[in-house]
Amino acid sequence: MSKQRHGSAVLSMSFLSLGLSFSVVAEQSVVEVCADCHGQDGQARENTIPNLWGLSESYLTSQVKAFREQKRTSTFMQPIVHDLTDEQIKQAVAHYVAQPDAKTFTIKWRGETWPGDISLGEQIAYSGKWQDNVPACVSCHGPSGVGVDPSFPRLAGQNADYLKKQLMAWKQDKRPPGVLGSMVSISKALSDEEIAAVSDYFANLGEQ
Ligand code: HEC
Ligand code: HEC
Repeated sequence: MSKQRHGSAVLSMSFLSLGLSFSVVAEQSVVEVCADCHGQDGQARENTIPNLWGLSESYLTSQVKAFREQKRTSTFMQPIVHDLTDEQIKQAVAHYVAQPDAKTFTIKWRGETWPGDISLGEQIAYSGKWQDNVPACVSCHGPSGVGVDPSFPRLAGQNADYLKKQLMAWKQDKRPPGVLGSMVSISKALSDEEIAAVSDYFANLGEQ
């Protein structure tokens, strides 16, 4: 028992001295660092972490730079990206852009149960909420929310908890407005219940 304790003390001391002389990111390939949370193939380890497959080069780059410049904040991303060079960002983004899509989607411009007994999430996705100036999500994010390069990210097959958190962040002015700035007014016009429903709807699309 005491031997083990001694062993781990030595181990953590050597980590400490490593930490003092090298930056963590410089020591490893930048992708290995990202992969701890986002997976090598862009499939995230947890529901609150976004999948990075199937997103455009310019969208990924703009978001990583927004985190680096602290315009977009995350306690997870901040320590990782604050001192990344443009070259390292380019390397990481190129890796994720090259990953195959983890899911395939049936392209739809309207809900499957349209116009009958349509669920709340599906209704918002395909018809928006016109009384509050919310256009259909698919009018920008593409049929079935598969994304439209370069500026409209894929929502289909993205993690539900992550999607909800983004809409709540815009609702509370915690994420920068982004391209067009439309997500701020859209998120503010949706109730928390509607945010949960539309996030679950998009997250559950797609076949593995
Ligand atoms: C410790 C875990 C962790 C590590 C390591 C990490 N990320 Fe993240 N990343 C997150 C989390 C959590 C979020 C969501 C933050 C939020 O809720 O806004 C995120 C968000 C992102 C986004 C935004 C995606 C979108 O759809 O808008 C991109 C792009 C991204 N990370 C790229 C990277 C890259 C590139 C690396 C490596 C240099 C990296 N991340 C390392 C946890 C991590
Ligand atoms: C007028 C066009 C437009 C419409 C309509 C629209 N979006 Fe967006 N959305 C965008 C743009 C542009 C971005 C990227 C913002 C950025 O650059 O940060 C985005 C980003 C998002 C994100 C963040 C994705 C990520 O990976 O971080 C979510 C979630 C989202 N939209 C959900 C929705 C939902 C739900 C609806 C329907 C209620 C909707 N959007 C309707 C333009 C639109």
